[in-house]
Amino acid sequence: MSRAKVVSLINMKGGVGKTTLAVGLAWELAKKYRVLLVDIDPQFNATQWVVSPDEYLNWVRTKHTVLSVFQPPTGAISNVGGAPAFAPIKPTPSSAVIKVKKGGWQLDILPSILDLMKLDAAPRGTENRLRVFLEKVRGDYDYVLIDCPPTASLFSYSAFLASDAYLVPVKPDPLSVLGLPLLERAMQDYEERSGQELPRLGLVFTQVRQTEAMLATMEQVRIEYPGEVFKHLIAQTTGVAEAVDGNLPLQLSPKAGKLAEVKSALEGICAEFVRRASDL
Ligand SMILES: Nc1ncnc2c1ncn2[C@@H]1O[C@H](COP(=O)(O)OP(=O)(O)O)[C@@H](O)[C@H]1O
Ligand SMILES: [Mg+2]
Repeated sequence: MSRAKVVSLINMKGGVGKTTLAVGLAWELAKKYRVLLVDIDPQFNATQWVVSPDEYLNWVRTKHTVLSVFQPPTGAISNVGGAPAFAPIKPTPSSAVIKVKKGGWQLDILPSILDLMKLDAAPRGTENRLRVFLEKVRGDYDYVLIDCPPTASLFSYSAFLASDAYLVPVKPDPLSVLGLPLLERAMQDYEERSGQELPRLGLVFTQVRQTEAMLATMEQVRIEYPGEVFKHLIAQTTGVAEAVDGNLPLQLSPKAGKLAEVKSALEGICAEFVRRASDL
């Protein structure tokens, strides 16, 4: 049985294009592979992009989100007519994963929810629950992508423990690049806490404008991370907000701008991702 490769998109900076890359890459992979996108950011931007507001509201009324994955088992305990029994209510693929179809492709998403924020004071061991859940569904997918929040939190650590590798979206402006040492420090902390290492699949430039400052910053990052930077990059483009509003993959967004360029970049990033992930 095949087992999905699990890759987290991590950067300790917010607003650098993690979610945009996660959603774009997930849809691109979904053209050919079975893909699960996991949203563990309490701000649930990936969920809001992929799932329409109506569908989301209906879903959270009766089904699970990633919040249930992080919570202890619930369920009825009874001893009516015999031995005491426990009927657990656990999130399963069918009760926690939304299947979304666009343009003939299917992307599965384990949605997030704002209430995830309340989990801050979770009991010890909570960080293992995502890994345990994903172990159960790995046979159903080729790739699992985890969109992380921009903080060194319980959620990011859970993603670390559940992943085979991590991918770093980098906005090549001087301030955002300052976040890279911060990320390295957080990853080192995770490695020491868990006693295991997580390979870095690479760095992908996002929100790129061809300014002198950005070109210089990209050159600097390529020197500091030799061989690690993806050849293709995501340009700054109009039309992202419209794609989010319409719950559409960038690949299907009708707006002009640099979207054609971004579309072909996503194809390139996807091919490179698959190639690099084959070593995992
Ligand atoms: N390539 C891009 N072109 C234009 N806007 C972008 C691009 N990538 C991201 N954005 C916008 O920048 C903001 C932050 O991006 P997002 O992907 O949410 O970052 P993060 O997940 O790192 O916080 C969002 O409003 C998003 O729509
Ligand atoms: Mg995000």
